[in-house]
Amino acid sequence: MRPFPRGSPPVRGLRAGGKWTRYLVRVARAAPVLFAFRDSEPFARRLARALRAELRLVELHRFPDGETLVVAPGRAHHAVVVRSLHDPNAKLLEVLLAADALRRAGARRVSLVAPYLAYMRQDAVFGPGQPISQRVVGGLLGRAFDALVTLEAHLHRVPRLRDVVPCRAESLPAAPLVAAWLRERGAGGLVVGPDEESRPWVREIGRLAGLPWVAGRKERLSDSRVRVLLPDELPAARAALLYDDIASSGATLAAATRALRARGIRNVQVAVVHALFAPGALERLRRAGARRVISCDTVRHCTNAIASATPFARWLDRSA
Ligand code: R5P
Repeated sequence: MRPFPRGSPPVRGLRAGGKWTRYLVRVARAAPVLFAFRDSEPFARRLARALRAELRLVELHRFPDGETLVVAPGRAHHAVVVRSLHDPNAKLLEVLLAADALRRAGARRVSLVAPYLAYMRQDAVFGPGQPISQRVVGGLLGRAFDALVTLEAHLHRVPRLRDVVPCRAESLPAAPLVAAWLRERGAGGLVVGPDEESRPWVREIGRLAGLPWVAGRKERLSDSRVRVLLPDELPAARAALLYDDIASSGATLAAATRALRARGIRNVQVAVVHALFAPGALERLRRAGARRVISCDTVRHCTNAIASATPFARWLDRSA
C-alpha cells in the first residue's frame, strides 16, 4: 500500500489535486476487486475477507453449440480473477476470456489468483511427440494477465514461476503453512517426502517444525503404478507425516505409506497441498494404511484442513 502522506487530513473536504485527494485516489485504485468463478467462491470469500476487498461473481452462459460466454460484472481499476485450475481445460479458456472482458471494461491491471495452477508437471519432453505444456499454458496466462500468483507450483526445472509465466508471477511456498499446522497440533514424528522432487519441501517443513525429515526415491511404472524406495537408514520415529505437492491417482502416497509401514512406522498421516484426488484415490490411500489425510484449501475437497488465503492476501497487498 502507498505511504500515508505527511500532515493531518483536511477537516473541510478535499481540495482537487491536493495531496490528500491524490492519496485517496491512489488508495482507491490500488484496492483490488475480486472476480471469482463460482467453483472457487469459498476460497475467494476467504481471500476477500483477508483483503477486505469487494467480491463479485463471474457468470457463465453455455450456448447450445458448447461455446461459453463469460460475463465479469462492473468495472475495477485493479481486477483480480480468482479461480483454481484443476480439471483445467475449459477453465483455462474461461479465465482468458474473463481477462479480456475486464480489460475491455476499463481495468488497468488484471491479476490472476490461481490457488492451483495446472499443467506445471509436463515441464519437459518426456517422450517422442510431447509438448512442454508448462510453457504453453504459462505463456497463455502470462500474456493475458499482468500478475499471477499461485501456491506451490510444480517447479523443478526452472527456479522461478516467471521463467515460464511471462508476467509478474509468483509461486508461494506451502511449507510454512504445513509446518504451522504441525506446530499448532504439537505433532511429532518424521517428515517424509516420497521422491527426490519433494526433498526441498520436506527439508523446509522439518526445519520450520523442528522435526527430522527424509526423502525417498520414486519409480513411476504407469499413471497409477508407482514404486517408492525409502533410505536404508531412517531416524527412529513412531509416527510419520508424508508430504507431497499433489495427490492425483494417490499411487505415490499410497506406495510411500506402504513403504513406511513396512519399516515399522504404523502411524502414517498424509498432507498434500493440492487435493486433486482422482476417483478412488482417497480410498487407495486409506487402503494402504494412511491414518489421516489432510490438504490445503486450494482445491475444494473433504480433506481440506489448512487455510491458504492469508499468504495470497499478503502478496496482493504487497504488490498493490
Ligand atoms: C509428481 O511429480 C508430483 O510431485 C506428485 O508426486 C504426483 O503428481 C502424484 O501423482 P499420483 O497421485 O498420481 O501418484
